[in-house]
Amino acid sequence: MTDLSHIHRFVPGNRHEATPLLLLHGTGGDESDLLPLGQAIAPGASLLSPRGRILEHGMPRFFRRLAEGVFDEDDVRRRANDLAEFVNDARKRYDLPAPMALGYSNGANIAAAVLQLRPEALAGAILLRAMVPLRDAPPVDLAGKPVLIVSGQFDPIIQASNAQQLAVALAKAGADVQHRTLPIGHQLSQADVTVASEWLRGIEATKLTKVA
Ligand code: MLT
Repeated sequence: MTDLSHIHRFVPGNRHEATPLLLLHGTGGDESDLLPLGQAIAPGASLLSPRGRILEHGMPRFFRRLAEGVFDEDDVRRRANDLAEFVNDARKRYDLPAPMALGYSNGANIAAAVLQLRPEALAGAILLRAMVPLRDAPPVDLAGKPVLIVSGQFDPIIQASNAQQLAVALAKAGADVQHRTLPIGHQLSQADVTVASEWLRGIEATKLTKVA
């Protein structure tokens, strides 16, 4: 679909109580990339999957960077706001509650920025190989938002201390953060699917208990 601000795919789910997922791909990915991951982590949930609007040597991303791991933070702010607007428009179009972000690498970083700048856009986030997107994030209230961060112990791109700093910042803002570090690198693995789907099942079970 192209008539919302971002090219995207929407796959309606058949489990209406399931929180929809907002799938955010890594550098060089597109709107189709994470659909299988989303289906594996949240079977039956609706999937909303935009394509990043920045091109770096032809590779889609969600915001500009000056070098690997060095972000153009004005652009991060602007693109996080644009993405939050896209989510609002898509929610109206497809009649969805606020989605849980599932982001990988650059997609995890923009998801973290949306949490810090436009928290109302997301029900929570699963951040696979995330790092701090903004050195100077404004104060925000993330009370009760569930966030899972999954880092790779051997990730050559993201320092453990950087991912830890993100976890601390989100927790200080009130998010309910779980930070797991797996004995893997930057690439996704089956262990990500296992950890994320177990965590999400726990979140959904708590949600149902609260409703009942
Ligand atoms: C980023 O640019 O968001 C991170 O360096 C991860 C990446 O996309 O390589």
